[in-house]
Amino acid sequence: MDRGEGVYFWDTEGKRYLDWSSQLVNVNVGHSHPHVVKAIQDHIGRISFAYPSIATEARGRLGELLSEVTPGNLSKAFFTNGGTDAIENAIKIARLYTGRPKILTRYRSYHGATFGAMTAGGDPRRHGHGPGIPDIIRLPDPYAYRSPVYKGRTQEEGDAILADMVEEIVLMEGPQSCAAIMIEGYSGTSGIIQPSAVYWNRIAEICKKYKMLLIVDEVMSGFGRTGEWFGVDHYPNVTPDIITIAKGITSGYVPMGAAIVSEEIGKYFDDHMLSIGLTYSSHPLACAAGVANIEVYRSENLIDNAREMGKVLRQGLVDLAEKHPVIGEIRGAGLHQAIELVKNRETREPLTPFIGPNSEPLQIFNRTLKDEGISTFSRWSIVFNCPPLVINEAQIKEGLEVIDHALSKVDSYYEG
Ligand SMILES: Cc1ncc(COP(=O)(O)O)c(C=O)c1O
Repeated sequence: MDRGEGVYFWDTEGKRYLDWSSQLVNVNVGHSHPHVVKAIQDHIGRISFAYPSIATEARGRLGELLSEVTPGNLSKAFFTNGGTDAIENAIKIARLYTGRPKILTRYRSYHGATFGAMTAGGDPRRHGHGPGIPDIIRLPDPYAYRSPVYKGRTQEEGDAILADMVEEIVLMEGPQSCAAIMIEGYSGTSGIIQPSAVYWNRIAEICKKYKMLLIVDEVMSGFGRTGEWFGVDHYPNVTPDIITIAKGITSGYVPMGAAIVSEEIGKYFDDHMLSIGLTYSSHPLACAAGVANIEVYRSENLIDNAREMGKVLRQGLVDLAEKHPVIGEIRGAGLHQAIELVKNRETREPLTPFIGPNSEPLQIFNRTLKDEGISTFSRWSIVFNCPPLVINEAQIKEGLEVIDHALSKVDSYYEG
């Protein structure tokens, strides 16, 4: 990459790419946004670094803004270097607060790359690294397209059964040893596999009933990605006790994350030892970038734009599915949409195997996107459509045209 501006970036040979994934679903305000760039430039001339026990104006302001935009009574943020260590610290906080060890997480989930976060995430990136940390309990997934639980049932019917299974698992594990259920606010790189409100409401009830915390990982789904400030905002009856954020908090301009806790949890640590800490916690440049990002989300109505442009994107993908039978399913909300490619709509056999190298059609598909100036990523047969929230309708059409062409090159691999 040589430079970036808005939804585009250019390589060193001058070729332009439409950023169809916001890099790693984090450059939410687009590339080189002048307001954010200026905030960082202004700040570094004044404060280049302050160690975590020292307050700065940007840090205080960011904490205040976060408590305004986050759901429920989340009010205190512990700032980290990114999403992974936000998760690590959320786990530590939950264990210290409840005095219980077990954290329940989904199989198809990703929570980061260090040992704790990696073990918490169930997806195959944890393979090959040994057993990981103890006391992570995995839950089955609300994968209506593939899970046998959903065969012949609606999403909601299957979700109700799955939530009952979660309660059963809590009982078998012993509620007195279960600290928290941790799930992504809106499922991300595991394939945008999102349950309905039926599941979410029951999970929140189970947490209350057994005095467990609900940790919602908003690292990817936060800051407007799905057309709401946070993924969990799609479920008004659900109030998280802790959320983790990163990515869109600074749009990646400076690395940053946070574990944000409810007022009760914050108060508890007023007189209980909170044995966590990082040299770069609340780095002044990251705080300045965070404040500037939230100002941009608000002043440019980017959450509304994500919702509205999400409808255009979704309709465009639905139209493509009519033309290309390799699209087995479309999932997501706002500017957070996945298409799952299949060899056959009846058998739902994936176009490339789950885990392992990409099959020939996936390689052709990905190469066509790159050749024709679209930058995005796919995992297994799932292709991500997650452009910056500043995208407009013409730019969405531009991206969809290339995807249309790339799909036409793999239509012949369909075995229907
Ligand atoms: C939901 C979720 N949680 C945590 C992480 C880890 O964040 P980071 O890569 O900033 O450490 C990611 C990264 O993609 C993520 O999508």
